Amino acid sequence: MDLTGKVAIVTGGAVRIGRAIAQGLAQHGVRVCVHFGRSREQAEQLTRSLRKAGAQAACVSADLREPVRAAETVLQFANETFGRVDILINSAGIFEASSCAEATEEQWDRHFAINLKAPFFLAQTFARAVGDQRGHIVNVADWRALRPSRGHLIYSITKSGLVALTRLLALELAPSIQVNALALGAILPPDGQSTWAESAPILEKIPLRRVGSPEAVADAVLFLLRSDFITGEVLHITGGQELEGG
Ligand SMILES: NC(=O)c1ccc[n+]([C@@H]2O[C@H](COP(=O)([O-])OP(=O)(O)OC[C@H]3O[C@@H](n4cnc5c(N)ncnc54)[C@H](OP(=O)(O)O)[C@@H]3O)[C@@H](O)[C@H]2O)c1
Repeated sequence: MDLTGKVAIVTGGAVRIGRAIAQGLAQHGVRVCVHFGRSREQAEQLTRSLRKAGAQAACVSADLREPVRAAETVLQFANETFGRVDILINSAGIFEASSCAEATEEQWDRHFAINLKAPFFLAQTFARAVGDQRGHIVNVADWRALRPSRGHLIYSITKSGLVALTRLLALELAPSIQVNALALGAILPPDGQSTWAESAPILEKIPLRRVGSPEAVADAVLFLLRSDFITGEVLHITGGQELEGG
């Protein structure tokens, strides 16, 4: 896909990894609709800075705990602002610790709404808007989706669901829309934790002995968007962590 002038929605685009994806897309001529939940100030600051750099950008808030309403709000805003949509990046997500012993129904509902139902309803609404034109969806998953690890039971199930959704939508939305996923490893320490040092032996678990950068994630998104023949793929951005077993 020639990216110049295309319109992308990036969920959770105001901060951290989503922000890097929004910036990477804008640097390559994509018009960006930055979705945010609570990070209004960061979203408005980002859209101002992208515009200052010559890009077209706008931001819209929607609470992904209400997936259907959020999807309608975001797609309507993107269509009204830019007149079209071509790309959907489902990056927003939550990552709470949970175990079999302590998991609650509220945690299940929250994770499923934000991490799985929202990407689905956004994809459904996006597909209606794209129609017979060409489009791309990239879902931001986690290597834990494909290989069990302890500590984040419900989160991991939602990311497994997101990978399954990626493959199913790749079939259902072909030939017009390509649907792929990223399986991320250690990119940024969990929100509220300032460095990876607090998760001490993380580097020992990564064959490349370094953590990834949000820019590496943005590069992977660009790679997938430029392809016109990859769909249903799950690309690991992990430094090989899934090979060690984490
Ligand atoms: N960080 C990593 O190393 C890592 C590793 C593996 C996978 N991932 C995946 O990569 C993606 C981005 O990760 P991150 O670490 O950058 O995430 P993050 O810092 O936890 O940010 C989460 C994003 O999701 C949005 N969000 C959460 N709840 C929302 C809600 N109810 N309504 C609307 N938006 C909501 C937040 O928006 P607001 O701030 O505007 O509310 C924020 O932009 C996630 O899907 C995550 O699972 C990250």
